[in-house]
Amino acid sequence: MVRSSSRACGATRDERDNRLNETTNWFDDTAPDPDRLAESVAPLVERLRERIAEAGPITFAEFMGTALYDGEHGYYRRHERRPGRGGDFLTAPEATPLFGITLARQIAECWERLGSPERFTIREYGAGIGGLAYDILAGLSDASPEAFAASDYRLVDVNDAQLAGALDAMAEVGLGAKVSAELADGQPLEPITGVVLANEVADAIPAHRFIQTEDGVREMLVGWRDGWFVDVEGSVSEAAAAPLQAVLEEVAFSPGDRFEVSPQAGAWFAEAAKGLERGYALIIDYGYPVAELYAPSRRAGLIRGYFEHTVTDEPYRRVGSQDLTTHVDFTALERAGMTAGLTLAGLTTQADLLAALGLGEFLVAMQRDSEMTLEQYLATQAAVLRLIDPGGLGRFRVLAMARNAPVEPPLRGFEPPKGIF
Ligand SMILES: C[S@@+](CC[C@H](N)C(=O)[O-])C[C@H]1O[C@@H](n2cnc3c(N)ncnc32)[C@H](O)[C@@H]1O
Repeated sequence: MVRSSSRACGATRDERDNRLNETTNWFDDTAPDPDRLAESVAPLVERLRERIAEAGPITFAEFMGTALYDGEHGYYRRHERRPGRGGDFLTAPEATPLFGITLARQIAECWERLGSPERFTIREYGAGIGGLAYDILAGLSDASPEAFAASDYRLVDVNDAQLAGALDAMAEVGLGAKVSAELADGQPLEPITGVVLANEVADAIPAHRFIQTEDGVREMLVGWRDGWFVDVEGSVSEAAAAPLQAVLEEVAFSPGDRFEVSPQAGAWFAEAAKGLERGYALIIDYGYPVAELYAPSRRAGLIRGYFEHTVTDEPYRRVGSQDLTTHVDFTALERAGMTAGLTLAGLTTQADLLAALGLGEFLVAMQRDSEMTLEQYLATQAAVLRLIDPGGLGRFRVLAMARNAPVEPPLRGFEPPKGIF
């Protein structure tokens, strides 16, 4: 059991095994519940069930990692995954092209800050079907034709079929020579000068789940009982011990509080940072700095499943068929970036970033566009409001970090807010 001390986090393997032995009923040999199986990817369920039978209760991070990233059946890897509006969630670039077009202004400024290099690469993690890439390139060609001319755009994703589809689509619109793809398969990517970007990727990186008990923090592991996956309390896994300790040094939880920690998110960002030789990293996602993330109002656990635009807090439903996410700890990401040699360039909200970059100006310009119908204008206005809604996409955080690139004065998007329009 982990108490709020560094010693307690470092339980040895033997200690851990002993404690797990104390935890009864983590596996019974029941067959999968047919209803739950029917809504899930059956081979994935079988794989996880066998793993638990062999290894004992697994961490939630392992469960989530398998459900999302299993090479054959994981949610993100499956070829038939439906992108965009037909899928399970709606991201900012899917709400309106103005998200990427506005972001392009920030990217153009990054190019200038780097001294207008002749070769400038934008590497986008989680590029999916390439919608954000298309909008950014369109916005860049307007905001700075010189930056556009110097740019090449690399789409990074774990889904090779989506990358292939994105490349075909880019070729069709005449951007084939500018855009290439890099499969995120754990291999290091070539170092670039430019911008590393990720919108709504960090939230999908697997997380460990915890519960504060009267006796300290316990990890919520995953067992198998009565034909399906169940939460099983166990001792803290080695992989999570140090990052958990970092959180416990800043936050005092009360018995019954549930929360997550994702060492893998920091590792993912550190790896992405390695591929940035000179330039800026921009990470956009839902989440907060550590004190806000673990505020008393957010202590019921933040793992969510998304399926056909409905949200659930039942992660064991629709295994492999629903997206699983958690909120991002931006303090941990920033620390991981600093350890990887990056410097903080700013942390702001999506609403403030887009406002500072002049999102409102696009709407004003549309009002004067004689070809725009009232319906089109109102639809765009509604989408823009979605992007800046303080209760929705607007409260997303945007982290900027830099390597061998100036961070003062602040990048335009990270200047203190002056109002939306
Ligand atoms: C929620 S979608 C966001 C897509 C896009 N960025 C957007 O804003 O519309 C997450 C995307 O990230 C990809 N992804 C998930 N984990 C990744 C990783 N570790 N590296 C690269 N891409 C990843 C998924 O395949 C998916 O395309």
